[in-house]
Amino acid sequence: MSDQKKKVLLTGVAGFLGSNLLKRLLSEGHEVVGIDNLCMGRIEHLQPYLENPGFTFVQKDIMDPDTFNSLEKDFDIITHLAAFKIPRYGNASATLKVNSKGTEHVLEFAKDFACKTVLASTSDVYGMRPDVPFDEEGVCVIGNSKVPRWAYAVSKLYDEHLGLAYMDDYNFPVSILRFFGSYGPNQHLSWWGGPQSVFIDCLLKGEVIPIHGDGSQTRTFTFVEDTVSGIYASMMKDEANGEIFNIGAHKEMTILDLAHLLHKISGNPGEANVKLIPYDEIQQGKKYQDVMRRVPDTTKAERMLGFRAQFAPEDGLKITYEWQKAVRQAQAQAETV
Ligand SMILES: NC(=O)c1ccc[n+]([C@@H]2O[C@H](COP(=O)([O-])OP(=O)(O)OC[C@H]3O[C@@H](n4cnc5c(N)ncnc54)[C@H](O)[C@@H]3O)[C@@H](O)[C@H]2O)c1
Repeated sequence: MSDQKKKVLLTGVAGFLGSNLLKRLLSEGHEVVGIDNLCMGRIEHLQPYLENPGFTFVQKDIMDPDTFNSLEKDFDIITHLAAFKIPRYGNASATLKVNSKGTEHVLEFAKDFACKTVLASTSDVYGMRPDVPFDEEGVCVIGNSKVPRWAYAVSKLYDEHLGLAYMDDYNFPVSILRFFGSYGPNQHLSWWGGPQSVFIDCLLKGEVIPIHGDGSQTRTFTFVEDTVSGIYASMMKDEANGEIFNIGAHKEMTILDLAHLLHKISGNPGEANVKLIPYDEIQQGKKYQDVMRRVPDTTKAERMLGFRAQFAPEDGLKITYEWQKAVRQAQAQAETV
């Protein structure tokens, strides 16, 4: 498939990655039909595009098979991002149901007209694997079922297997993308959006930054423009078909480093004010397990997709800080009117 104008079905369009991908697709002249039930996404993210003739918004639930029955079967690509993430606030059953049933409905729809489908997976599927960086061919080591967080990884592993099984059984191309912590404009402003969302809010309000555990756990924070470049390349390139790719940045940082860097970006005086919260206090009496090191090997995405993350954390986090500050200021102004 070459990089001509495509008709794309995008689920989760009002969410963080969905709205950023929508912006890129429309700017490249593609036509997009976007589905979202707005349970976690925001209509504000779509506001700049609602009048764009290349975009149609369908406010529906992917759990309902009728959502897909009402669509034409003339898409060139389906990119499936709608999902529930790590169940930090309980409700692991929603994560399991949305990520299994929702993906089943997407693949059932795609198979009827053999439509190329790109599925969102997560670095969480590597679980407790000890060897970093994680390459796509290695094992996934999922923790104890009594720890609710693993519901997310298990649901995404199910999606990966289902996608590859549909590809084999019904002969249409499926690509799987394992995202490593993405951040940027339109991120959800709670833990759902990642630690940087919460830390920025604390800095804006002059509050203590909560750190889970001792803050020595590491991540590679990926600016959303980079994540979108990885998604876009896998949508447009035939080389992606039937493959799994890590999509993430390279610089390994501890969560404490993240707090200190954001404090520096904020320009707040003194040292970052952090509070360490023991893991057993995090999840309402349920067990919690963290992943202590998480770093992607992106050699495969580089070789086959030409993808390599470009943004340094200092630059991406500065853009994100300014964006979140503006959103919070606008919200505060709206409340005083
Ligand atoms: N953001 C990251 O760093 C990251 C990391 C790993 C994996 N992922 C995966 O990437 C995808 C997008 O993540 P995101 O960060 O943009 O999440 P998000 O929550 O911001 O976006 C998901 C969107 O899906 C919508 N949605 C959820 N359930 C739905 C349903 N039943 N019907 C219709 N719409 C529904 C939500 O309203 C939301 O707008 C997800 O599949 C997620 O698991 C993201």
